[in-house]
Amino acid sequence: MLDGKKTLFSGMQATGNLTLGNYLGALKNWVSISDNYQTFYCVVDMHSITIRQDPAELRKRARTLLMLYIAAGLDPEKNCIYYQSHVSGHAELTWILNCFTYMGELNRMTQFKDKAAKHADNINSGLFTYPVLMAADILLFQADVVPVGIDQMQHLELTRDIAIRFNNLFGDVFTVPEAYIGKTGAKIMSLQNPEKKMSKSDENPNGSIYLMDDMDTVIRKCKRAVTDSEGCVRYCDGQPGVKNLIDIYCSCTGKAPAEVEREFDGRGYGEFKMAVGEAVVSILKPLQERFAELSQDKVYIDRMIKENAEKATYFSNKTLRKVQKKVGFPERIR
Ligand code: TYM
Repeated sequence: MLDGKKTLFSGMQATGNLTLGNYLGALKNWVSISDNYQTFYCVVDMHSITIRQDPAELRKRARTLLMLYIAAGLDPEKNCIYYQSHVSGHAELTWILNCFTYMGELNRMTQFKDKAAKHADNINSGLFTYPVLMAADILLFQADVVPVGIDQMQHLELTRDIAIRFNNLFGDVFTVPEAYIGKTGAKIMSLQNPEKKMSKSDENPNGSIYLMDDMDTVIRKCKRAVTDSEGCVRYCDGQPGVKNLIDIYCSCTGKAPAEVEREFDGRGYGEFKMAVGEAVVSILKPLQERFAELSQDKVYIDRMIKENAEKATYFSNKTLRKVQKKVGFPERIR
């Protein structure tokens, strides 16, 4: 609890181009629930370097991501939107929490296994301790709520375990966070392979809709999406391609799957895919227009970056100093 409100923390990696999955699984929910919380939305650039990055490109993507948070509807005057690397408490708390996290726990992380397999030439220790940095992000702000997609649940469970372990040793230091998973869109799948989640790093660009795709591309990708042989728009596990498209359509329009089944009863996949494409366009078009406007306003964005980094540093230091004291570091002489 900060300033009398419950606290919300979340973040995204500044790696690759944001997808519709990132938007529907996370960003959209951030916007809809923010008013009820004291919020911290972080561009997690420190997480990004667990995979090799081109430095200039990383800087550019981080800024784009920060502006996308704002373009999606998060007012940076009300929401603390900042870069992880600007707040040194993230790294400092990570070190301490590393000493309270077991190798066995990190070895079980499926995302580590996936990434290690994908980047076999660079299995660095940062990739291994990545979930500890994520735990530090969340615990540093005493977050009550963490809105994420389903793929982050294992990391969030670990965060809770670390917090409880630390609290058992040192008293009530950390708030134990809860995940917030949206009713729809929590796991958007690839348009080309509905068994796989839609991802920024998909080698097949037709599998993902990127937030910056132009509108013709969005429609084309939806039209080309893999469906099934049944020929009817039905929400069931046996038709993963259609189920995924219904999920996307519901997330964009606020409709329920049963309503969509009725709407497209007796109509073919072609018409349905077109409607999905148009629903996605209706979300992405205003987002891109707002992004273009923000891109013109360098002074405003720079001011927000500076002010919010200071604000995040102020709040994070409260927790950090407490933790440092608990583990036995000498007090600072003022
Ligand atoms: P990242 O950058 O991979 O993804 C950002 C958010 O998007 C969600 N997401 C999806 N949701 C639905 N369908 C999909 N296909 C899909 N793909 C991604 C993710 O669940 C996430 O909510 N480790 C995190 C970033 C992070 C973080 C944190 C998140 C670092 N520290 C603290 C919350 C709190 C990550 O790599 O997310």
